[in-house]
Amino acid sequence: MFQFDHLTVPDIRTPLPGPNGAEMLARDKLYVSPSYTPMYPLFVDVGSGSVIRDVDGNLFLDFTAGIAVTNTGHCHPEVVAAIQDQAAKLLHMSGTDFYYRPQIDLAEKLAKIAPGPSPKKVFFANSGAEAIEGALKLARWHTERNRVVAFFGAFHGRTYGAMSLSGSKLVHRRGFSPLVPDIHHVDFPRACPEGGTCADKCRLIANVEDTIFKRTCPPEEVAAIFVEPIQGEGGYHPIPQGCLPALRALCDKHGILLVVDEVQSGMGRTGKMFAVEHYGVEPDIICSAKGIASGMPLGAIIAKAEVMDWPPVATRARSVGIP
Ligand SMILES: Cc1ncc(COP(=O)(O)O)c(C=O)c1O
Repeated sequence: MFQFDHLTVPDIRTPLPGPNGAEMLARDKLYVSPSYTPMYPLFVDVGSGSVIRDVDGNLFLDFTAGIAVTNTGHCHPEVVAAIQDQAAKLLHMSGTDFYYRPQIDLAEKLAKIAPGPSPKKVFFANSGAEAIEGALKLARWHTERNRVVAFFGAFHGRTYGAMSLSGSKLVHRRGFSPLVPDIHHVDFPRACPEGGTCADKCRLIANVEDTIFKRTCPPEEVAAIFVEPIQGEGGYHPIPQGCLPALRALCDKHGILLVVDEVQSGMGRTGKMFAVEHYGVEPDIICSAKGIASGMPLGAIIAKAEVMDWPPVATRARSVGIP
C-alpha cells in the first residue's frame, strides 16, 4: 500500500504531462476510443486516500474522487483487504443463476439502511447506468405504464434508457437517435419562490402538474418520475427542501413511482447515507452505484418490496398473455 501522509501535496516536479505521461498520451491517441474526453493532462499511477501520484512522480490532491466514486478514498486498506480476500476465494458467480452469501448479505444491508419504514428488496447491477435501466424496467413492469418524467439538467448515464432520461447536454444525444420514447423533461427547481418552504406550490409541481400533465403527458400513463436529489452534471444543484416532499405527494396523487438517482449523491457523500434522507422522503426506488463499492464496478436498485414484484424470468408472461 502506498502512503503519502508524510509528503507535501500537491508536489509538481515536471511539466504536465511529464515524459512518461507524454509517451502514454501518444499511445492513447492511437488505441483508445476518441469518445473519452480527458480534460486534464493527469496520467494516474497510484492513489492513497485523497492523494494521486502520476506516472512522472508528481503528487496531486484529488478533489474528484473519480467523480464521486472512491468515497472511502483511494485504496482504503479495508476495501483493498476485502477485494484481495474475495479474489482469492471466488472471482465470479452468476447471481442470476445461483445463490451466494455475500450477495444476500449486501442486499440485506442495503435494504436495512435505505430510508423509510417500508421493507425493501435489492437488484444488483454493474454500474449506475445499469441501475437506472433496471429502475426504468421495474417502474414500467410494476405500474404497467409507459411514460416517464425526468428533469432538464439531469444526468443518468450513457446507455439508451439512461441517456434518454438525461436532459443535460446535446453531446450525449447528438447522432444517437432514436432514443427511448415517452420520456418527458421538465425544469429542475433550482430555487423555490417561497424561499425554502415551498410545499405544494413550488415551481416543480407547477411545471409537472400544470404543464405536461395537462398538455402532453397524461398522468395516468406515467410509470415514474426520476430525480437526482442533487443534480451533478447540471452544476451541483440540491433540490430545494420542500420540493421532494411535494414531488412525493404528486406521485402518490397519480399512482406514479418516485425514483431517486443516488448514484452520485448517495453512500455517505452528503453526510447521510442517502441524500434523500435530508428531505424526509421515502422513494419507491433508489438507484445506487459509484461510492457503493468505492471503486469496484457495482450498482444496485433498492426498491420497496411491494414495488419489486417482477417474477422470475420463467414466469414473466403476464402482459403478453403467454400461457
Ligand atoms: C447521477 C448519476 N446517475 C447515473 C450515472 C451513471 O453511472 P455510471 O457511470 O456508473 O454508469 C452517473 C455518472 O456520472 C451519475 O452522476
